[in-house]
Amino acid sequence: MPTDRFGREIDYLRISLIDHCNLRCIYCMPLTGLRFAPSAELLTAAEIETVGRAAVAAGFRRVRLTGGEPTLRTDLVEIVSRLASVSGMGDIAMTTNGILLPQLAPDLKRAGLRRVNIHIDTLNPERVRQIMRWGDLARIWDGIRAAEAAGLTPLKLNTVVVRDYNDQDVVELAALTLERDWHVRFIELMPLGVDEAAAVARRQFVSNRDTRRRIEQALGALTPLASQNPSDESKNFRLPRARGVIGFISPVSEPYCGSCNRMRLTADGRFHLCLLNDDELDVKRAIRSGGGIPVVRDILLRAVTAKPVGHKLDRGESTERRDMYQLGG
Ligand code: 5AD
Ligand code: SF4
Repeated sequence: MPTDRFGREIDYLRISLIDHCNLRCIYCMPLTGLRFAPSAELLTAAEIETVGRAAVAAGFRRVRLTGGEPTLRTDLVEIVSRLASVSGMGDIAMTTNGILLPQLAPDLKRAGLRRVNIHIDTLNPERVRQIMRWGDLARIWDGIRAAEAAGLTPLKLNTVVVRDYNDQDVVELAALTLERDWHVRFIELMPLGVDEAAAVARRQFVSNRDTRRRIEQALGALTPLASQNPSDESKNFRLPRARGVIGFISPVSEPYCGSCNRMRLTADGRFHLCLLNDDELDVKRAIRSGGGIPVVRDILLRAVTAKPVGHKLDRGESTERRDMYQLGG
């Protein structure tokens, strides 16, 4: 397995497929000033397959498709089939806002997608419009149902907690786990880039300590669950008599850089070494000038070696050249 300079085993590749999104969550995409990569700059399905093969050759075992919003790629099903055809590829998952899953979920499942994480910040229709702006609760909920019906499970829901917007809604979301075998995970806001979204992330931050306290006051004490995977960024719990799991992802208040196992690929074909730093290594140029799987594998292994030790949010530093919608979390 590829190991970096700090002894971390890196075997998980997050692939951003596109930087566009059909929503405009306030902490992710400002309404003006967005700069999308021209489509000729996006890696093609065949190029993504090459990176997938190189990643498995390097010792990677899992990939996650993300965005922006990955379902906006019209060749998404082809991308999943190509990655699923790579022998040794253990697990293919996707992070999505769910809006397009009703038409896509069965085909994605057939193509080899295992499971999805769906982003939903509140169960209140009015507040969905405030936080996710172009979001529509009924459509997101249809996406969740479609994912479940297609067997894209275990189903995980991701909630980003935003002060004065949805901090009170975490209780209702957590309560979903009482009846349903879902994972509901609360994510601390991270500031990326230099635009209005980063300002929102800094201004409206809520610590997961507060989110946990709010949930326990309303629904009872949370029992910690033993971690199945040491590099799971989510600390998991269960409510009394609940079927599902509640997770807290706390990159800001409890950084987990020391057990990071990930590498990222941007939609425009660069390995991005750490979510909250700007360091990147171009791989598209090598592929487009004829480099095959061994060349890409070597670039990926160099990217692993160059991974920085962690983020510097405590010093107020984050990315300056990349926004969340270009990296996909
Ligand atoms: N901080 C934390 N999480 C974020 N996401 C998007 N923007 C932010 C942010 N600023 C999450 C969304 C989505 C995933 C890609 O990242 O919930 O699920
Ligand atoms: Fe789109 Fe996800 Fe960003 Fe919301 S958080 S705008 S759904 S990419």
